[in-house]
Amino acid sequence: MTNFDVIVIGSGPGGYVCAIKCAQLGLKTACIEGNEKLGGTCLNIGCIPSKALLYASHQLYEAKHNFEKMGLVGKAPNVNLKKMMEYKEDVIDQNTKGIEFLFKKNKVHMIKGWATIKSNTEVVVDKKIYQTKNIVIASGSKPTSIPNVNIDENMVVTSTGALSPKSIPEKLIIVGAGVIGLELGSVYSRLGSSVKVIEFSDKITPGMDSGLQKHFKRILTKQGIAFEMNAAVTSTKTFKNKVKVNYIKNADKSEHSDEAGMVLIATGRTPVIDHLQLSELNIKVSPTGRVVTDDNWMTNINGIYAIGDVIDGPMLAHKAEDEGIAVAELLAGQKGHVNYNLIPSVIYTHPEVASVGKTEDELKKESIEYKAGKFNFMGNGRAKATFSSEGFVKILTDANSDKILGAHIIGPMAGDLIHEICVAMEFGASAEDLARTCHAHPTYSEAVREAALACGAGAIHG
Ligand code: NAI
Repeated sequence: MTNFDVIVIGSGPGGYVCAIKCAQLGLKTACIEGNEKLGGTCLNIGCIPSKALLYASHQLYEAKHNFEKMGLVGKAPNVNLKKMMEYKEDVIDQNTKGIEFLFKKNKVHMIKGWATIKSNTEVVVDKKIYQTKNIVIASGSKPTSIPNVNIDENMVVTSTGALSPKSIPEKLIIVGAGVIGLELGSVYSRLGSSVKVIEFSDKITPGMDSGLQKHFKRILTKQGIAFEMNAAVTSTKTFKNKVKVNYIKNADKSEHSDEAGMVLIATGRTPVIDHLQLSELNIKVSPTGRVVTDDNWMTNINGIYAIGDVIDGPMLAHKAEDEGIAVAELLAGQKGHVNYNLIPSVIYTHPEVASVGKTEDELKKESIEYKAGKFNFMGNGRAKATFSSEGFVKILTDANSDKILGAHIIGPMAGDLIHEICVAMEFGASAEDLARTCHAHPTYSEAVREAALACGAGAIHG
């Protein structure tokens, strides 16, 4: 088969979801993937393997810190890194094979190889030309580095190397206190490394609600992660058994250095578009390397679309998925829409951190009169029973209408709890709507209801 309605380039969450949706809507669809396995960064070297390692290392933490308190006594387990990696690979395999199955089920034609775009109707893979009415670029992103740092994915690693270590270093230095640095920092800390994070800014997790940032940093510090804030890493030098990290303190420009067995560079990600030969077609790319699209995700070339990490916006798998579905709907002649105000962000540490909508800082900046209803998990019975009463739910509402404008959670299952608020916000709900909805007891979700109550007359247990 060499003639299609749609060719999707890339099989990450944006690409594979777009391809399946296109096929479900009756379009003759192909998806091209250059890597051996389907699923892109998320399934192979990102979201999924990191969640496997976060889960495994959290079990170890529980065994070491909480088992005895519950009367579960005996020797705490040790880490068998080889076995842990086998478990992680098995989780990856189950997920990537799942996409192969879904492609077959939905009749998405899979093409293996690296694609280049010849024209808006022709895509080339291994010198073979495929004809198509539409092209969707979903080629994802890769870690960025910083000057004077030589990444070898062994001692100086990106998230890719950090997810497949040969051994657990005694000390790990992380450059960048973003999502990747803090999730992987948690994994290594629980597995026994002493972890130090060097961050350029005065805050962790850029863009997050500042109340949440402060609380989150306090918890991570209590868990043993050290922070050197307001400091810019300028270079690294690799020796036989250690890496020297040089950095400058922003305040006085003084030069410092530190050493560790492993250094993780987690300073952001950049779109992967070089191999597509976009410049030959004069497809517009922004100064930051993102493909420029219009409101319908179409590039400046008719029939060529782009979604996910290669275009503007947060580099999140679920944002890419939503864009993939919207483009498929547009190509099938339907309406496609993504509500960019309601894309949740989640950090899968323990406790989890989750946000949606406006932060307090944004509301202040926009001079919107708001009310903040906060409830601490300390008042939640279920959280007390599971050693997870640290953290809170904060709901921000319009002071006049009570409409929910944002929510910020740090606590157990925050990444799941946030979606109740996303749905409420999608329907334009008020905090009172949430507060009047019966929530099962004992669940963590009662903390969401209590925060909604706190936007009105007050929480019951707060
Ligand atoms: P990030 O952009 O979130 O954070 C990078 C941090 O590095 C910033 O705080 C920045 O100030 C700092 N930095 C940059 N250069 C530095 C230097 N020379 N010295 C010291 N600090 C420096 O990047 P991150 O964590 O790599 O994540 C990349 C993308 O992947 C993000 O868009 C993130 O949302 C996404 N992601 C999301 C996940 C999730 O949703 N759970 C998980 C993993 C990644």
